[in-house]
Amino acid sequence: MMLKKKFKTLTCATLGLSLLIFSPGCKPEKPKEVKRVPIAENEIDPEVWGKNYPVEYELWLKTKEPRPEGKSKYKKGYDGGKIYDKLSEYPFMALLYKGWGFGIEYNEPRGHYYMVIDQLEIDPARLKAGGVCLTCKSPYAPYLEKSMGKDYYSLPYKEVWSKIPEKHRKLGVACIDCHDPKDMSLRISRSFTLGKALEAIGVKEPNHQLMRSLVCAQCHVTYVIPKDKDMKSVGLFFPWQGSKLGEITIENIIKVLKSDPSYREWKQEVTGFKLAYIRHPEFELYAHKSSPHWSAGVACADCHMPFVRVGAHKVSDHNIMSPLKNDMIACRQCHAQDPEQLKKLVFEIQDRTMTLLLRAGYATARVAKLFEIANKAKENGKLIDEKLYNEAKDLYEEAFYRVVFIGAENSIGFHNPTEAMRILGDAMSYAKKSEIVLREALSKAQVPVPVNIDLELTKYLNNRGEKKLNFKPEQEIKDPFGTLETLGKGF
Ligand code: HEC
Ligand code: HEC
Ligand code: HEC
Ligand code: HEC
Repeated sequence: MMLKKKFKTLTCATLGLSLLIFSPGCKPEKPKEVKRVPIAENEIDPEVWGKNYPVEYELWLKTKEPRPEGKSKYKKGYDGGKIYDKLSEYPFMALLYKGWGFGIEYNEPRGHYYMVIDQLEIDPARLKAGGVCLTCKSPYAPYLEKSMGKDYYSLPYKEVWSKIPEKHRKLGVACIDCHDPKDMSLRISRSFTLGKALEAIGVKEPNHQLMRSLVCAQCHVTYVIPKDKDMKSVGLFFPWQGSKLGEITIENIIKVLKSDPSYREWKQEVTGFKLAYIRHPEFELYAHKSSPHWSAGVACADCHMPFVRVGAHKVSDHNIMSPLKNDMIACRQCHAQDPEQLKKLVFEIQDRTMTLLLRAGYATARVAKLFEIANKAKENGKLIDEKLYNEAKDLYEEAFYRVVFIGAENSIGFHNPTEAMRILGDAMSYAKKSEIVLREALSKAQVPVPVNIDLELTKYLNNRGEKKLNFKPEQEIKDPFGTLETLGKGF
């Protein structure tokens, strides 16, 4: 209960702004007496924890529930109980990710309850990396990693997964992942990943408010799975080397990704390039000095785990979800506007980000198709200027990683609007520059290149084996701002 007081200090401290109001909740509450039995240090079973903390346990179970429809504009994770296919939403991704699992099946995220279940249901191509895939899914990951060592990373997913006790094989993030059972203080369970990454950026003793973000940063971050010569996974780390807290930049991340060929986890089909990848970098985009909320000391939990009243209790909402689907309760802890006004502010940021994401995404996809033309010409004996080709390739990679970064980040820019726009603006310039250099190389080699490049999106979307979703381009390629229609058709 001390913890709550601390939260309120922060909330109240940030309220001195004209935009914000004091909420009546700012008076510290009296702690309540609850009879509790000690929880063992290594107790994974949430049911056992739930005996002491039934309210949080019940809320945690609710991450299983479908989300309401029509409340979020771009993040329709499990709205109305439906699963959304990201590749149909953003067809340029189907082209760019063709070559490995992400190009076959890539769904919008849904509630925490489903994290292991969704892995079991997804196309097996997505689990090729092996047991390592359990790292940001199962509460058993730290124990498996410790007991199995190298095998944890490289053995097939199902083999490692089957070492989890049967009762918990479908269990996702649990109390033990975020809490110390002794006193319920926040704790990092994944010292083998986040622990090492924090060392790399020089964070030694994170304070309580930072912990309210770091528990999420155990999973909502990007990571690298280095490969050996046979493309077997040999580890997992966050590419934060050379960065510092509040400034884990895309530039530094790309520097790390490019620094070692073993970080190139897959081969992009359209270009034939071996590339690295970027996953859900929520923490990296959010925890950045240019984010207004991060700078004001707001944590992930402030927006995704607002206080809710359940009977006589006031607790952190463990039914973690998008604030938009929760009627902006979180925002209203600090902001005076009504929910509709707040929603409009979010949509304005997201619309701006989406326009630029689509433009940058399609510009990058177009360069990828140009490389396909260049590679074919090479095969047919045309002499393509190596220097220009490599320069274009390097520029293309810069654009690609930036597009993947914002495309994989789950807030559509809201977590840090200016940084998202900066990254996408740069992606756009890199893609344009790459196209100019590559066209120059092709024209020197007298390879004819059409002005409009056919992206063949229908091919990429429908060519996904079992997982094809009967994509109908005429109906589905829609741009809320009237630009995607043109971009998608190769303008
Ligand atoms: C053990 C890893 C892990 C931790 C820790 C974790 N998450 Fe998640 N989170 C996931 C995964 C994986 C998904 C996607 C699940 C799926 O789609 O099956 C997800 C989904 C979500 C969603 C989407 C929920 C929905 O209803 O669509 C939100 C929001 C979210 N996480 C926020 C957070 C916040 C905030 C924290 C910290 C308080 C946190 N997560 C901690 C792994 C984690
Ligand atoms: C993804 C991380 C995460 C998971 C999983 C999680 N919690 Fe929490 N929990 C938090 C955060 C963040 C807070 C806010 C703590 C603070 O500010 O000190 C919190 C607070 C609490 C509190 C303090 C009172 C309150 O509600 O603010 C209790 C008790 C609690 N959690 C119980 C549980 C139980 C029981 C489970 C498992 C069923 C669980 N938690 C799972 C992150 C988590
Ligand atoms: C100031 C409030 C705020 C903070 C702080 C915040 N988020 Fe969010 N987050 C949002 C909003 C708003 C969205 C967009 C939701 C939507 O479009 O439905 C979002 C979206 C998400 C999503 C996707 C949700 C979904 O339904 O697919 C995840 C995951 C997420 N945030 C995780 C985090 C993590 C991890 C942190 C901390 C590193 C964090 N957020 C910090 C407000 C916040
Ligand atoms: C813990 C308090 C807190 C919470 C929760 C919170 N905010 Fe804020 N918000 C702030 C503070 C402080 C600022 C910075 C104000 C400033 O610098 O003028 C801010 C700034 C903003 C801005 C202006 C930022 C910009 O880009 O100019 C918007 C828009 C905003 N918040 C929307 C939201 C929404 C939507 C939510 C819920 C998803 C939310 N906030 C949750 C405290 C909070």
